[in-house]
Amino acid sequence: MLTEERTTLEQPIVEHPRITVIGVGYLGATHAVCMAALGYDVLGVDVDESKIEQLRAGRVPMYEPGLEAKLGEALASGRLTFTTDMDEAAAFGDVHFVCVGTPQAADSQAANLSYVEDAFSALAARIDRKALLVGKSTVPIGTAERLTALVSEISPLGAELELAWNPEFLREGFAVEDTLHPDRLVFGVTSEWADRQLSAAFAPILAQGTPVVRTDLSTAELVKVAANSFLATKISFINAMAEVCEATGADVDLLAKALSYDTRIGGRFLKPGLGFGGGCLPKDIRAFAYRAEELGVGQAVAFLHEVDEINNRRRVRMVDVIRDLAGGNLAGKTVAALGAAFKPNSDDVRDAPALDVARMLYLEGAEVRVYDPQANKNAHRRYPDLNYSGSMADAVTDADVVALLTEWDEFVDADPSMLGDLVRTRRIVDGRGALDRGAYLQAGWEFRALGRPAHTADRAAVTSRR
Ligand SMILES: NC(=O)c1ccc[n+]([C@@H]2O[C@H](COP(=O)([O-])OP(=O)(O)OC[C@H]3O[C@@H](n4cnc5c(N)ncnc54)[C@H](O)[C@@H]3O)[C@@H](O)[C@H]2O)c1
Repeated sequence: MLTEERTTLEQPIVEHPRITVIGVGYLGATHAVCMAALGYDVLGVDVDESKIEQLRAGRVPMYEPGLEAKLGEALASGRLTFTTDMDEAAAFGDVHFVCVGTPQAADSQAANLSYVEDAFSALAARIDRKALLVGKSTVPIGTAERLTALVSEISPLGAELELAWNPEFLREGFAVEDTLHPDRLVFGVTSEWADRQLSAAFAPILAQGTPVVRTDLSTAELVKVAANSFLATKISFINAMAEVCEATGADVDLLAKALSYDTRIGGRFLKPGLGFGGGCLPKDIRAFAYRAEELGVGQAVAFLHEVDEINNRRRVRMVDVIRDLAGGNLAGKTVAALGAAFKPNSDDVRDAPALDVARMLYLEGAEVRVYDPQANKNAHRRYPDLNYSGSMADAVTDADVVALLTEWDEFVDADPSMLGDLVRTRRIVDGRGALDRGAYLQAGWEFRALGRPAHTADRAAVTSRR
């Protein structure tokens, strides 16, 4: 049921709309490329000229599997172009998707909405014919309603320039697949016209039978932050159990395995380890809690503060375990930090647990050698003081301790004997519960993992039966 339904039933829609994507970062670049792949004419827009230059040249400015090939095809088809010119964007689009960033504010846990406000204002001031503005960025509840008022105040079309919210659920590392074949679409709309126009912009995806949930604007905003809160809570739940395991000598991996067979619980996101990070989950749960306070329902989501705390404690605990394995003092010790990205198959280092751990080790006097298959450049930009290695072999050579921080296949598949020949001492901490403990023990490593009892080679026989 649509709330505040407008009387725009008679308005014609554009069956094959021309699409703009405002903000071509991780979300927007993928959306622009995939919409062109689906057959739409798309104009990607950004304020960052170098990003636009790279995309025009067929280069994706970040690492996302499969995206560069799809970008090349889209450019060759002539359906995808890029610009920094907002006048061009306003003239081009029938449906404008706003995908700009909503990072955490510098001075609070709230979301910084200035980019979203700038993008909507810039479009509203320029658009002079019926068009649909669609927010895809993750925003606090109530933002879309506020933007609706702002847009109709600025726009020469007044309230005729309509706004919808269409939250995005893609996962970095699987962004292309998730965009082309989403689990569901959420259309936050306030008129039948907006619903029909947005449906026309997703026609090929709707034709796959993708479920659509049509909501008011606030519910659409809430779906996204609620989904991220649920996922973060599930991760922090098992990590809280890891803390209990560490105090009792129980094994959190076996616990998670046993829980996962319960179909009411399920195994996904029940993976103990270094916890969540990235440009979404941490800042989204903080902004949600902050917004709930503003709305007078802070208590309802007060648990999110604990979810955040549990998550941050994992990073500190990882450093504790590494220090312990290094003999109680990290000063002068060489630690190979395998991984910098917040998860494998991404070069995103925003709020990355791996980099946080590497930095804490460095601050305790360790010589930290960071290696990530894709994220070294971004990591270096963020923490230029750390040492970066060009390969896993370089990073581990003469290391006193190896720390697995991001579970890239390259690390998970590495041969423990080969690694053992390179390090100074065979000591490893698995921060992701991803390594074959038995294989490491058999190769003579001292093996530690978050939430699991300490193991040395003499216990290999017992643990390898796991
Ligand atoms: N990254 C993800 O996996 C993901 C998934 C779902 C939702 N989201 C949400 O999508 C939004 C964008 O996230 P992201 O990871 O793509 O961020 P990002 O920082 O990678 O990209 C944002 C882009 O917007 C551009 N920009 C800023 N202001 C602009 C303006 N006024 N006009 C045009 N371009 C402008 C920036 O230059 C940048 O290229 C956030 O709200 C995020 O929470 C992200």
